Amino acid sequence: MDESRMFQENTFDNYLNSAAPICEDGAFQKKGHSARTLSPEEAEKLSRDQALVSDFKKLKLEKDAQKNWDLFYKRNSTNFFKDRHWTTREFEDLKACREFEDQKLTILEAGCGVGNCLFPLLEEDLNIFAYACDFSPRAVEYVKKNTLYNIERCKVFQCDLTKDDLLENIPADSVDVATLIFVLSAIHPDKMHLALQNIYKVLKPGKCVLFRDYGLYDHAMLRFKSGSKLGENFYVRQDGTRSYFFTDEFLSHLFMAVGYEQVVNEYVLRETVNRKEGLRVPRVFLQSKFRKPLSEA
Ligand SMILES: C[S@@+](CC[C@H](N)C(=O)[O-])C[C@H]1O[C@@H](n2cnc3c(N)ncnc32)[C@H](O)[C@@H]1O
Repeated sequence: MDESRMFQENTFDNYLNSAAPICEDGAFQKKGHSARTLSPEEAEKLSRDQALVSDFKKLKLEKDAQKNWDLFYKRNSTNFFKDRHWTTREFEDLKACREFEDQKLTILEAGCGVGNCLFPLLEEDLNIFAYACDFSPRAVEYVKKNTLYNIERCKVFQCDLTKDDLLENIPADSVDVATLIFVLSAIHPDKMHLALQNIYKVLKPGKCVLFRDYGLYDHAMLRFKSGSKLGENFYVRQDGTRSYFFTDEFLSHLFMAVGYEQVVNEYVLRETVNRKEGLRVPRVFLQSKFRKPLSEA
């Protein structure tokens, strides 16, 4: 399922700073290595919006990052993101991670939110143990309160992926697959590598991080009003949460500098349609897979 579907219509506006709800069309999807080409109007808009938020405000947003995500879940409870059943389908790698059919997999969902990916996955695949963590204590509480939460099948904990050592909750070299689904974009680009280093320690050698997040020139990037820009491809929403828009090159450097090997790194280009207004909008995501090498160099 497209990421656009995970938003409830009434709150999708807030998320994209958009004026109208958008539903998935599903008629169009393209994968590849080239980013989207902007129309002349879009290119002009982006080149006009160069003013950056003040350094004072940038520092405050960084300091308040956890608070702002927690307030996000206070406002939206568990109703914002829709459950996603696409994890196994789109990342068929999850299945491919098994070396034999009945192998029990240990997964880590880094930045799990309220579990919209986690619970569908636990329902679909009974042979999984899942670690899940999030920045927001409130989101973690929602996961624990979910009727599907079962300590025999999952362990959820609060953590800042850029600061708190995952080894406090997960044994070293024990995870078969880690997911980062729309999480890295919420982290300051200067700190993204810290989250990747942290995950590296708990991954088994030879195993992968599955990544999906906003790509350069996604519609959401073009909807930011002037005064929202924090840096190159990095913006702040009205609620104080932030979003980075990735190029394949940036992501590749980020992972490889930490020591991962690139397996897949491609743009997914889709069109979604606002049926009420008959508007088509381009969505751009980056879907990638990076492996911890079997032996350290
Ligand atoms: C856009 S939401 C995506 C949530 C979930 N992955 C999903 O797809 O439903 C981004 C999540 O990243 C979490 N997050 C942001 N910064 C984080 C950090 N430094 N450490 C851990 N989680 C973080 C937020 O609390 C939020 O739940």
